[in-house]
Amino acid sequence: MYDLLSGEYPVYHAGRVLGITALAPRTGQQVLDVGCGTGLNFSLLQQRVGTSGTIVGIDRSADMLNMARRRATARGWNNVILVQADMVLLDPRSIAARIEESGGSAASDAALATYSLSLMGDWTRAWANMTALLGPGGRLGVVDLQDPVGGARWLIPSARLACALGGSDITAAPWRAIEQQCVNVLRGSARGGHLQIRTGDMPEAPVI
Ligand SMILES: C[S@@+](CC[C@H](N)C(=O)[O-])C[C@H]1O[C@@H](n2cnc3c(N)ncnc32)[C@H](O)[C@@H]1O
Repeated sequence: MYDLLSGEYPVYHAGRVLGITALAPRTGQQVLDVGCGTGLNFSLLQQRVGTSGTIVGIDRSADMLNMARRRATARGWNNVILVQADMVLLDPRSIAARIEESGGSAASDAALATYSLSLMGDWTRAWANMTALLGPGGRLGVVDLQDPVGGARWLIPSARLACALGGSDITAAPWRAIEQQCVNVLRGSARGGHLQIRTGDMPEAPVI
């Protein structure tokens, strides 16, 4: 019911398809799904990482994680690890340990946040924790929302209303972190600019 009411197919699905296509996790890799909600990214991620890969969904809501768990169980996905934690407040070392205890790797190959950072208040701390859970040179993806632009500007009031009802800050623009901190940045948008997509690689530590 939550997924039916969320505007998934008219609006948001396009962003997750573009984001996961650009992130392009490979077979066998481990991907963090930050603020995974009910697991709407899992099917697209499974197609990429396969049964030898791992999806780690992190969310602070037990209800959301229960829906994500039901989705994984119903599809027979045994490679999904779900962790209840607040991305703003968590200690990355203890979360990495919990992921390892559940059969995953402490360091993930990629991390994706779709429509979640803009709900997290101090999203820069959530971003820092997201990057801390990545291995060297890991890939990052952010899909989030802004006011529609150009000929779609007439949709601004409804876009703002939908964001306000969903609790997200339409002015947050968390993809700026990728613009500022990553290399090999890919940029995309959809739905009149309302959906903003960025992916990039964390630079390897400079060799001194
Ligand atoms: C709009 S939903 C998006 C869910 C999913 N990423 C998607 O694309 O369908 C935002 C999710 O972020 C989660 N969330 C919000 N603040 C959070 C935080 N500080 N730490 C972890 N999860 C959080 C919410 O519980 C919710 O499941």
